[in-house]
Amino acid sequence: MNTYANLKVGIENGICTITINRPDKLNALNRDTVQEIGAAIAEARKDRSVYGIILTGEGQKAFAAGADIKEFIGLTLEQGKAMAKAGQDVFRSIEDCPKPVIAAVNGFALGGGCELAMACHVRVAAVNAKFGQPEVNLGLIPGYGGTQRLIRYIGRAKALELMMTAEMLKAEDALRLGLVNYVVPQEQLYPKCLELLNEIKTKSPFAIGAVIRAANAYTGASNGYDTELDEFGKCFASEEIKEGINAFLEKRKPQFN
Ligand code: COA
Repeated sequence: MNTYANLKVGIENGICTITINRPDKLNALNRDTVQEIGAAIAEARKDRSVYGIILTGEGQKAFAAGADIKEFIGLTLEQGKAMAKAGQDVFRSIEDCPKPVIAAVNGFALGGGCELAMACHVRVAAVNAKFGQPEVNLGLIPGYGGTQRLIRYIGRAKALELMMTAEMLKAEDALRLGLVNYVVPQEQLYPKCLELLNEIKTKSPFAIGAVIRAANAYTGASNGYDTELDEFGKCFASEEIKEGINAFLEKRKPQFN
């Protein structure tokens, strides 16, 4: 495997573990990290020695606390849309990977981090994990597929509520709503992912890929994703995003009204 500036990647016993490695920034997904995740997934997909992938975040505090808010500063509508498109493409490559990809959600999975977890085929959460789409606090919307995938997992009513209130879900509530498959103690997170992948390993690899392709055919309508791109871009043409980002950087609540 290649080496990456923002990821740790290792292969052991046929399992490729991709760890987002920016713990001091709560594993926030800057552009380079998103691109590296795409490259690492592509490598693991091609590598014949790999049959399954675990995606996680370094440390015990965050899976990923969202897109890197600092990279939003000064973006135009077109640049915002292009950023979302790049993220959507990488996250779709995870969803389309014919090998099982499990998110080991070890802490905050917010914004792009929640979207990243949702792009994986299965989510196992540590008890301290927290999920949410807090983009409206910034004057923004989810742009990496979240407006579409969250509805698919938990239904339209609850998804709209969470996206409009920016409420954070505890792991147990995420389990109850169907957003995650399992909640386990932090020390059981990796073993549970291994257990699932070892079970999947006993099945036909071709059939696993076919299940993923068929499931994605049910859920893969692209219209909603295009609307998400347009609306994400338009947020950058509004004054409100400036207030939202400044408020985050200044560690205060935004004043939109
Ligand atoms: N983008 C960029 N930097 C981020 C980040 C993000 N999404 N999330 C956290 N960080 C950085 C913080 O700026 C801080 O950096 P600093 O030490 O240089 O100031 C560091 O990570 C630690 O975060 P901090 O806010 O001090 O931790 P906390 O425990 O007080 O709060 C959160 C944790 C997750 C509640 C808080 O970091 C947060 O709200 N993050 C943004 C979540 C978000 O809106 N995501 C969606 C983005 S579209």
